[in-house]
Amino acid sequence: MSILIVFTKCINNQNKKQEQKEENVLTGSVITYDQFAGSETCAKCHQSITDNYFHTAHFYTSQNAAEQSIKGSFIHGKNSFTYDVGKIVSLEKKQDSFYQVYYYKGKEVVRRRFDIVIGSGTNGQTYLSWIGNHIIELPVSYFTQVHQWANSPGYPLSPIIFNRPVTARCLECHATFAQAINYNPDIPPMFDSSKMILTVGCEKCHGPAAQHVAYEEQHPNDSIGKFIVNPAKLTRQLSLDVCALCHSGRLDELKPPFQFIPGDSLNDFYTSSDVSKKAGVMDVHGNQLGVLSASKCFQLSKTMTCVTCHDPHTNERNNTTLFSQRCQSCHTNQHKAIEGLPDDVVKNNCIDCHMPLQESTSISFLLQNKTQPVNAMMRTHYITVYNDETKKFIKQYTSSQKKKL
Ligand code: HEC
Ligand code: HEC
Ligand code: HEC
Ligand code: HEC
Ligand code: HEC
Ligand code: HEC
Ligand code: HEC
Repeated sequence: MSILIVFTKCINNQNKKQEQKEENVLTGSVITYDQFAGSETCAKCHQSITDNYFHTAHFYTSQNAAEQSIKGSFIHGKNSFTYDVGKIVSLEKKQDSFYQVYYYKGKEVVRRRFDIVIGSGTNGQTYLSWIGNHIIELPVSYFTQVHQWANSPGYPLSPIIFNRPVTARCLECHATFAQAINYNPDIPPMFDSSKMILTVGCEKCHGPAAQHVAYEEQHPNDSIGKFIVNPAKLTRQLSLDVCALCHSGRLDELKPPFQFIPGDSLNDFYTSSDVSKKAGVMDVHGNQLGVLSASKCFQLSKTMTCVTCHDPHTNERNNTTLFSQRCQSCHTNQHKAIEGLPDDVVKNNCIDCHMPLQESTSISFLLQNKTQPVNAMMRTHYITVYNDETKKFIKQYTSSQKKKL
C-alpha cells in the first residue's frame, strides 16, 4: 500500500477525548476506495444494527436506477412533463433501462438514461446520468407530495437543461464515496464509476472500515472494536461534525471532497458560508445544525448533539411520542397547563408546537402547467415557543374530539 497509515491505540479514556485526532487511524492519509468494506459486510457481526439501518432514509438516499428505486410512473398518460407548447420530456422504459427523452414538436432531440437515483422519496427524487466520466443531473424530478413528475429544483423552464454537471459535493452528501479523477475545483468533476459507493452507509459515520473488518475477523475473541470510530466517544464538537458534513448547509471546500472522515475536524476541510445567518433566514433544508444552534436548548445545554434526539441506525420518522420522550430527558418538569388540552396530549407531542413544519425554499418543485413552485414541508430545528402553532394545535385537537362524538 502506497499510503502511510499511522496506527494508534483506540483510546477510550475521558481525559484523552480532547486529543481528537487519535481516535481516527486514517486521519491524515488519503482516503481511497480500497479502505471501505461496504455496509453489507457489517451484518455478519452487527446484525440488529444493520437490519434496522436498512430501513433508514440514509440507506435509500442514493441507489442504482431500477424499477423499484424510481418512484415516478412510466405508465402512458402519466409519463411526461410538458415544458411548453411542443416541448415535452417523456419518461420511457426500454428493456431494463429508463430514459428521459426530450421531444420538440414530436421529434426526439436528446435521450439520457436514468443511472443513479438521489433521494429516498420522502420529499422527492432527482436522477443522474453518466456521460463518459461525467455525471449530469436530469431535468425531470419526482415530487412525492403530489406523486408527480416535476421540473428539477432550481431548473429553468427554458432552455431544458441536459448537461448540468453534478458536483462532487452533491455526491459527498448523498453517497459514501466517489473516486474523483484529476480533481480540480474549477472544472466539472470526473468520477470513476467502478469506485463509487452509493447510500450514506455505515462507514460515512464510522470511517472506512476494511481494516476493522480484517482485524475483527482475525481476532474473534477480542471484544474491543479496533480501527473504527464510534461517534459516542468523540467530543461534542467532533460528534456534531460527523453529521454537519451534510446537515450544516452550504460549505466552501478547503480540501478535495471525500477526504473528511469521522473524527476529523470539519473546519480543516470546509468553511461555512451560512454561519452569519440568523435562524429565520436559514433554509430548513439541509441546515439542521445551523438552525438548531440558534435554539436555547442547544446553547444552554452542554451536551446536546444530533444523537440526543436521533438514533442514526433506526427509522423513527413520525414517531412523535418517542421524540417527545427525548425532550423530557431534559425537560423533566410538568409542562404549564394549556387551556383546552389534557396534560397527556401535551406530553406526547412536544414537536408540533415547538418544532413545527415549515416550507423549504430549496426543496421546491415546479409542476406541469404551474407558474409557482410548491415547497416541501420540513421540521424546523429552531426549538422555541410558536404561539400560532399552539393555537393551530388546540384547534385541530378540538375538532378531532368533536368528530369522535
Ligand atoms: C468480524 C466481525 C466484525 C465485522 C465484520 C464488523 N465489526 Fe464492528 N466490531 C466488531 C467487534 C467484535 C466489536 C467490539 C464489540 C462491540 O462494540 O460490538 C466491534 C465494534 C464496532 C464499533 C464500536 C467501536 C467502539 O469503539 O465502540 C463500531 C462503530 C463498528 N464495530 C462498526 C462496524 C462497521 C461499520 C462494520 C462494517 C463496515 C463493522 N463494524 C464490521 C466486529 C466486527
Ligand atoms: C453523507 C452525508 C450525511 C451524513 C454524514 C449524515 N446525514 Fe443525515 N441525511 C443525509 C441525507 C442526504 C438525508 C436525506 C435522505 C433522503 O431522504 O433521501 C439525511 C436524512 C437524515 C434524517 C431524516 C431521516 C428520515 O427519516 O427522513 C435524519 C434524522 C438525519 N439525516 C440525521 C443525521 C444524523 C443524526 C447524522 C449524524 C450522526 C447524519 N444524519 C449524518 C445525509 C447525511
Ligand atoms: C450539503 C449537503 C447536501 C448537498 C450538497 C446536496 N444535498 Fe440533497 N439533501 C441533503 C439533506 C441533508 C437532505 C435531507 C434533509 C433536508 O432536506 O434537510 C437532502 C434532500 C434531498 C432530496 C429529497 C430527498 C427526500 O426524499 O426527501 C433530494 C431529491 C436531493 N437532496 C437531491 C440532491 C441533489 C441532486 C444534489 C446535488 C445536485 C444535492 N441534493 C445536494 C443534503 C445535501
Ligand atoms: C448517520 C450516521 C450513522 C450511520 C449511517 C451508522 N451509524 Fe453506527 N453510530 C452512529 C453514531 C452517532 C453512534 C453513537 C451513538 C450514541 O452516541 O449512542 C453509532 C454507534 C454505533 C455502534 C456502537 C454502539 C452500539 O450501538 O453498539 C456500532 C457497533 C455501530 N454504530 C455500527 C453501525 C453499523 C454496522 C452501521 C451500518 C449498518 C452504522 N453503524 C451506521 C452513527 C451512524
Ligand atoms: C439536552 C437537554 C435538552 C433536550 C434534549 C431538549 N431541551 Fe429544550 N431546553 C434545554 C435547555 C437547557 C433550555 C434552556 C433553559 C430552559 O428554558 O429550560 C431549553 C429550552 C427550551 C425551550 C424554551 C425556548 C425559548 O426560546 O424560550 C423550549 C420550548 C424547549 N426547550 C423545548 C424542547 C423540546 C420540544 C425538546 C425536544 C424536541 C427539547 N426542548 C429538548 C435543554 C434541552
Ligand atoms: C399545544 C402546544 C404545546 C405542546 C404540545 C407543548 N408545548 Fe411547551 N409550550 C407551549 C407554549 C404556548 C409555551 C409558553 C407557555 C408560557 O410561557 O405561558 C410553552 C413553553 C415551553 C417551555 C418553556 C418554559 C418557559 O417557562 O419558558 C418548554 C421548555 C417547553 N414548553 C417544553 C415542552 C415539552 C418538552 C413538551 C412536550 C412534553 C411541550 N413543551 C409540549 C406549547 C406547547
Ligand atoms: C431536540 C431534539 C432534536 C435534536 C437535538 C435534533 N433533532 Fe432532528 N429532528 C427532531 C425531530 C423531533 C424531528 C421530526 C421527526 C419526525 O417528525 O419524523 C427531526 C427531524 C429531522 C430531520 C428530517 C427533517 C424533515 O422534516 O424531513 C433531519 C434531517 C434531522 N432531524 C437532522 C438532525 C441533525 C443533523 C441534527 C443535529 C444537528 C438534529 N436533527 C438534531 C429532533 C431533533
